[in-house]
Amino acid sequence: MQQIKSGASPIGVFDSGYGGLTILKAIRNRLPEYDYLYLGDNARAPYGTRSFDVVYEFTLEAVRYLFNQGCELVILACNTASAKALRTIQQNDLPQIDPTKRVLGVIRPTAEAIGELSTTGHIGVMGTNGTVQSESYDMEVAKLYPDYVVSSQACPMWVPLVENHEADGDGADYFVRKYVGTLLNKDVDMDTIVLACTHYPILYPKIRAVVPDNISVVTQGEIVARSLEDYLRRHTEMEQRCSKGGVCRYLTTENPDKFTDLAKIFLEEPVCVKHIDL
Ligand code: DGL
Repeated sequence: MQQIKSGASPIGVFDSGYGGLTILKAIRNRLPEYDYLYLGDNARAPYGTRSFDVVYEFTLEAVRYLFNQGCELVILACNTASAKALRTIQQNDLPQIDPTKRVLGVIRPTAEAIGELSTTGHIGVMGTNGTVQSESYDMEVAKLYPDYVVSSQACPMWVPLVENHEADGDGADYFVRKYVGTLLNKDVDMDTIVLACTHYPILYPKIRAVVPDNISVVTQGEIVARSLEDYLRRHTEMEQRCSKGGVCRYLTTENPDKFTDLAKIFLEEPVCVKHIDL
């Protein structure tokens, strides 16, 4: 396994579990020169069904851990963690932990991108119960595009289907039709649907097949990668602190063998993983 050099500052990428690998993959494709440290809190996933307080506490623990590993910049690749923990961490915790470090999420850049893409101003959001109940997308879109209409649909069966290797199965067909159908019925003018959960790109072919052609279906990986590239271009002091060895390491709070096996759903390349406790 390639090692990140000691004293290096990899970009931390945090997710509740495996799904953030879809974001990491897009980030590494766009910005291959940096070092990355991925942390999946698999032992405590899913976050999508957990309360605000619990998601916040777990996410803060993970962020602190990544900072202690030398990360100067941490991306919350998880929508649920971005929805329920990012703002408090940025506003309350970061100034005390280390005001020079940064934590970024996935919701703001996604809201910006889907707002630009939509021509009718009617947007659909599909996410976990936690993301939808937090109304984070509604709030972010409202800040940027006050006239836009956001309709949301929680899709609680999609993460378990993906993680149980059922993304190609008949069960997935049923639950894709069910949730997409319910969302489409909420707003006939919808022209853009965002898959606001890290796992949903795995179901993209089935989702695309049941969404009418005039409606765009947007995944987040490339949006987040472009936004990070832009952030690093605008923040040269942070860019210079991120080490550039092109190495990616993986950490999980679960069993590493289990992580390696399930990571195959999300990444083509094999991963070497270390267990940690938070
Ligand atoms: N990573 C989560 C998200 O993007 C999905 C999995 C979970 O519920 O923990 O919302």
